[in-house]
Parts: sequence; structure tokens; C-alpha cells
Amino acid sequence: MEIISTAKKMQEHADAIRRLGKTIGLVPTMGFLHEGHLSLMQESRKRAEHLVVSLFVNPTQFGPTEDFDAYPRDFERDVALAEKQGVDVIFAPTETELYTKEFQTYVILEKIPNHLCGISRPTHFRGVATVVAKLFNIVKPDVAVFGRKDYQQLVLIRRMAIDLNFGIEIVGSPTVREPDGLAMSSRNSYLTPEQRLSALSLYKSLKNAQKLVESGEKNASRIIEAASKLIKSHKETHIDYISICDPETLVDMDIIDRPAIMALAVKVGKTRLIDNMMLNPSDGMAVDSSFK
Ligand code: PAF
Repeated sequence: MEIISTAKKMQEHADAIRRLGKTIGLVPTMGFLHEGHLSLMQESRKRAEHLVVSLFVNPTQFGPTEDFDAYPRDFERDVALAEKQGVDVIFAPTETELYTKEFQTYVILEKIPNHLCGISRPTHFRGVATVVAKLFNIVKPDVAVFGRKDYQQLVLIRRMAIDLNFGIEIVGSPTVREPDGLAMSSRNSYLTPEQRLSALSLYKSLKNAQKLVESGEKNASRIIEAASKLIKSHKETHIDYISICDPETLVDMDIIDRPAIMALAVKVGKTRLIDNMMLNPSDGMAVDSSFK
């Protein structure tokens, strides 16, 4: 496994791999790898011959009061885990390598960031779209794999890849959960054992919503109300949003008469957690497999 830290070397490496006629798969990460990231790597392996994993805690996607400095980092451990997965290249640039002093070019999407997490994190998706566009230009992948846990991010990157003609297949990989249902996240490492119990309320409320929809409930506010009640009954929880929305536009839906995404963000103590699930009304249309 090779570790590359400059954009130029990474581009040269990608050109060489492409000249050999091999396809490249990219798994962008901010490191502190967990089972969720490993499943993205396995997905990429199935779809492309050469596997590049980027490790970069991207400063532009953190707000001024967010956890950029505290974000967990463990490069040695990440390298060992990636090696075990048979990763071909780790691309781990420094901050100044990707953002020079004169940096001033951002990718901004017009609509998708105006919903869900974009409301309380107004500059987050500008940072995500920009760094992912840069990674696409540096790694030149055929395929890039992202987790469905960050659902809004996945929708945004799909849109960006189409709008800017990247010619890259964007794959959404299923959320990997702990045995009790908690979605895996590097930020779970912030939770105390008591907060860890409260964090489970996200998954429980989504499963409960699925049950309600399966039993015929179509009214989105009633389902959101039930989720809100369940989450608030757990200690140290503060709801940022609970939304039931269109899987592609992320616009809120009042009546669930077709497949919808239920997405939520909840602070448990100081840790902001997100999760989502597809809601399928029993008489609804088949789910679009790319958004399952
Ligand atoms: O999902 C993440 O870890 C990050 O948002 C990403 C896609 C690596 C961009 O920094």
C-alpha cells in the first residue's frame, strides 16, 4: 500500500493506473476509520480494480463553533486498517496542500443545502462539495462510494457529479450499525456510556416511524411527533430537526403517499448525531434502488 500526500503525485499515480487500463474506486473519508468505512472500501473493491482511500479532516466543512480541532484522528490505526482491507493507495494531504493561502474557489449547490443539516450548518455543504470536487479532480476515479448515513451529502454529491459532468459513478452504500442499531460514526467516540444509551433513541424513533407507516399512518407530522416524544424521553437529547422528505429534492412531505426519507439530527450532550431511514407506505410505489 502506498501513502501519497501531494495532489501532484496523486494525479500522476492516477494517470499511470488509467494508462494501464485499470479502473479507480475512491472512498473519501475524514479518517478515524470504523466498520462503516470498511464496508465502503469493500463496495468499491467490487466495482473498481484500484482502491484509493482519502484521509483528510476537511476544515471548510466545519463551522466556527464546531468540532474541527476535537475531531478524532489516529493516522497509524487508519493506515493499519486500510492495509488490512487491501487498499492500494491512501491519499492523505495536509491542510495547506489542499487549501493554499490564496484559495477562493468553492462549489455551491443552489437547493439541496437549504434543507435538513444545511439549515443549522449553513457553510457545511459548500465545504463538502468543494473538497469532494477537489478529490475527484486529484484522484480521477471511475467510481466513488459514500455512506447512506450521510444521506443529504450523498444526494448533494450525486447532483454535483451530474451538474459538473464529472463522469464518475456515485454509489450509496448502506448504513452500518452497531448490534443495537446505533449508526456507526467517528463521533460516537465522544459519547459517555449514558449518552450512548440516549443516542439509541435516533434508531428507535426511525424504526418506530417505519412501523407506523407500515401500519397505515400517512400523516408526517404525527410520525414526527411520535419520534420527537421518544427522543425527548431520553436524557441529554436536543433535537436539531426531524424531517420526512422527498428522497431526491429533500423537500418536506406532509402526506406519505410514496417512498419518503425520514432524516434527523439530534445533539446528545455536545455530540451531534444524524441518521435516516426510508419510509415505504404499504401501498406505495417500489423504492428507487439507488436511494434505498
Ligand atoms: O463523509 C465524510 O467523511 C466527509 O464529509 C467527506 C465526504 C470525506 C468530505 O470531507
